[in-house]
Amino acid sequence: MAFLRAHVATILKQMKHMGIKISLAHNDDAAAIAEMSRQLIEGGLPWSWTESRVRHYVRDRDSAVIVARDGRRLAGFAIMEFHDEHAHLNLLAVRPGYRNHGVGSALVRWLESSARMAGVFDIDLELRATNDMARRFYEKLGYSPAGSRTRYYAGVEDALRMTRNLSMVAVPPSGQTQ
Ligand SMILES: CC(C)(COP(=O)(O)OP(=O)(O)OC[C@H]1O[C@@H](n2cnc3c(N)ncnc32)[C@H](O)[C@@H]1OP(=O)(O)O)[C@@H](O)C(=O)NCCC(=O)NCCS
Repeated sequence: MAFLRAHVATILKQMKHMGIKISLAHNDDAAAIAEMSRQLIEGGLPWSWTESRVRHYVRDRDSAVIVARDGRRLAGFAIMEFHDEHAHLNLLAVRPGYRNHGVGSALVRWLESSARMAGVFDIDLELRATNDMARRFYEKLGYSPAGSRTRYYAGVEDALRMTRNLSMVAVPPSGQTQ
């Protein structure tokens, strides 16, 4: 388990030098997270990740809601749900001004480390089938397309499903997963 702690510590250090800290979200973050979901993820769809829904996940012991903070401002967030055999990445977003600096990767790696520590090695997620940007991002992080779900979003938009198995992923001493 020591190498996993080292891995998370390295990620946190990388973010720290940018002045960004990753931590578990508080109840008070729910409104900002819900608003980011509405603007950055659910655009054009009915708003489903409302403040009360996010609050539920913040309290849920089988879920992790994490935030990347730049001072008091949220730079990004992610929500993962842990099941017995797999973990599901529900949401991930980084504000435009903070993108392409590793914040999204750091959030995903943080959650992957948590999954490993919980003995869960299969991660899955869905994204809007039209979201090429996010598909390329997840592919860079080692996720592979695993089929689609027709009209998954509000009965109108298809989803692409992507998965990653962590059991064969090496975590070198530097803490950078491949
Ligand atoms: C997808 C998203 C979370 C990525 O966050 P980010 O902080 O910019 O990602 P990172 O900086 O960690 O990028 C990691 C890698 O992905 C690549 N990447 C990021 N955005 C990319 C894009 N638009 N096209 C191609 N590659 C991209 C980066 O170049 C980087 O590769 P590198 O390590 O070789 O340089 C962010 O763009 C976002 O919030 N998008 C809107 C919400 C969304 O689509 N969420 C996902 C579905 S729920």
